[in-house]
Amino acid sequence: EMGGHAHYMLKEIREQPDTVLNACRGRLVREEGSSRLGGLNMTARQLRRVRRVVFAACGTSWHAALVGEYLIERLAHLPVEVEYASEFRYRNAPLDDRTLVFVLSQSGETADTLGALREAKRRGQPTLAIVNTVGSTIAREADGGVYLHAGLEVGVASTKAFSAQVAVLTLLALHLGRLRGLSFSEGTAVLKALEAVPSLIGEALKAEPAIEAAAERVAQARSVLYLGRDIHFPVALEGALKLKEISYIHAEGYPTAEMKHGPIALIDVHTPSVFVAPRGPLHAKTLSNIEEVRARRGPVVSVGLADDDELTRLSDHVLPIPDAPDVVQPLLAVVPLQLLAYHVARIKGCDIDKPRNLAKSVTVE
Ligand code: F6R
Repeated sequence: EMGGHAHYMLKEIREQPDTVLNACRGRLVREEGSSRLGGLNMTARQLRRVRRVVFAACGTSWHAALVGEYLIERLAHLPVEVEYASEFRYRNAPLDDRTLVFVLSQSGETADTLGALREAKRRGQPTLAIVNTVGSTIAREADGGVYLHAGLEVGVASTKAFSAQVAVLTLLALHLGRLRGLSFSEGTAVLKALEAVPSLIGEALKAEPAIEAAAERVAQARSVLYLGRDIHFPVALEGALKLKEISYIHAEGYPTAEMKHGPIALIDVHTPSVFVAPRGPLHAKTLSNIEEVRARRGPVVSVGLADDDELTRLSDHVLPIPDAPDVVQPLLAVVPLQLLAYHVARIKGCDIDKPRNLAKSVTVE
């Protein structure tokens, strides 16, 4: 069943080129430089009226939603709020008829996410769901939505579902953008970038030997910082969650520049920092943050471009990813972080597919 892979988690990480392909299949509309998401059951006119988007989710799905916030802001210039489902359901969040509420869930059974959906419905809000499991409770109760088509995810630590969610959110951002200020050529550039992702993930997967070397060092740590900024901040959060879930090493994700507002106090020779640092407009700032960590003798692991000499000089380990337009970079940058967590857990002898205290779907509050 695991097709020669040592664990389901590894199999699911390596499946991600297909995951993205399947999430996009039949949904790219090249002649319009846009995407088609028929399951939303909403007309162009209805979608154009939307003034605000709310995402509610838990865990990894919440991280995917945060990537979605950056994407929708960038491509459609709409305000987005990302809520923990457990908070949203008991708050009195302002909603109106121009707010679009989405819940995101791999399993479609998470109690708090279902609670958030029901609360939004109770308030008369049309609700949409981005779900993997066909026919799940959330899928059935939502007014419309988008399936991930990621296939069964067995490993308790979610990997391919995250990639499928981010791919679908890219399609959603593109669609909302094309109803607003995003031009045909800008939309086409996003489509092309997305179409290239499966083979680029394939390249990122080839870096496993470098990742294993970094894992040997991270496995010695008691605590690890994950840092990323802009669209990579949620990727840093997701990398930290993967590590803590399966290796039981404490890890925290932060926006890179927040480091100096507290977490820098933790840095010493025993506390590695993992920087998500592909090239981009803020790269020089990230490099100077890395220098600050080095000055305190903190080990540095970076996810970045293989030909980035400055990053290589400043890092103890570089986990290489191929270059790509920044809207699709999270789909590449998350891969080495999943593998890093996997190899750390393997080195430590942890039960990777069934980490302690965790269940695949959390059906109690
Ligand atoms: C992380 C993980 C959990 C889930 C969370 C939401 O690896 O598995 O954090 O992401 O419990 O689950 P779904 O997406 O099924 O609602």
